[in-house]
Amino acid sequence: MVASVDDLFGGAAPYYAKYRSRYGDPAIEHLAMTFGQDSTVLDLGCGPGTIAIPLSRRVRQVLAVDPDEEMLAEGRRLAGKAGGIRWIKGDSTTLRDLPPFDHVVMGRSFHWMDRRAVLAELDELLPPHGVVALVGPTREDPQEPWEPVVRRVRDEFAVNTFTASSSFQATGEHHDEVLATSPFSVLDRAHYEEHLPYDLDAVIGLQLSYSYSAPARLGARKEAFVEAVRRALLAANPSGRWERVTVTEVLTARRPPRSP
Ligand SMILES: C[S@@+](CC[C@H](N)C(=O)[O-])C[C@H]1O[C@@H](n2cnc3c(N)ncnc32)[C@H](O)[C@@H]1O
Repeated sequence: MVASVDDLFGGAAPYYAKYRSRYGDPAIEHLAMTFGQDSTVLDLGCGPGTIAIPLSRRVRQVLAVDPDEEMLAEGRRLAGKAGGIRWIKGDSTTLRDLPPFDHVVMGRSFHWMDRRAVLAELDELLPPHGVVALVGPTREDPQEPWEPVVRRVRDEFAVNTFTASSSFQATGEHHDEVLATSPFSVLDRAHYEEHLPYDLDAVIGLQLSYSYSAPARLGARKEAFVEAVRRALLAANPSGRWERVTVTEVLTARRPPRSP
């Protein structure tokens, strides 16, 4: 099933907001120090504000942009009365409609886009000191301890297809390779490791936060899927408790300094 850009995560937003891991204070601090407190930052593919909400306390303004209304609604709900964020429906093809911004951050969202086109457009829109920051798991991120078990259930339900942008799937190029051959070729990276506890509900909720097993993909089979995942997980690990190691990478990209 091919979903449109504003329905990739149909019905996933509440699960995403509740069960996807946050990036942790050190990663947000790293972004805040990189951007500076006087800056306006575009969070492109903001989801429910995983980065936008904590970052908004540290910079002048965040433009939180996403094509998915449900994600934006979840973000507005979580942000409450906190100021400093503008929630905007849009995507990587509507950058020129936005108010000016100094820097861009993309958390687990760049793979959905036509990456070279986005970087070329950002080269026209960002000021000379503008930074493009990517935040997400490292390539070497350890596999989630429950993944082999859940993958078998996804196979049974035929919801195992990862659906990133065609440019990502066609070339298989990693983000850093795309950046290194773009105008933003000066790269710097930092890694932040966390050990997070998960219970059964959290592991199940996480599955419903993924695009490929989002409620809209499962449709009327959602409850059957949830039950099958629950049974498989408990059969493999009757304690219903897991620890997951996550390593978040903050990859920053700048233009090379101009020769005088
Ligand atoms: C995995 S979520 C990441 C949310 C959040 N940035 C985070 O780090 O947790 C990916 C988000 O990218 C959005 N997205 C998908 N295609 C996009 C595009 N072409 N332009 C901008 N955002 C897009 C989706 O709607 C989704 O909310």
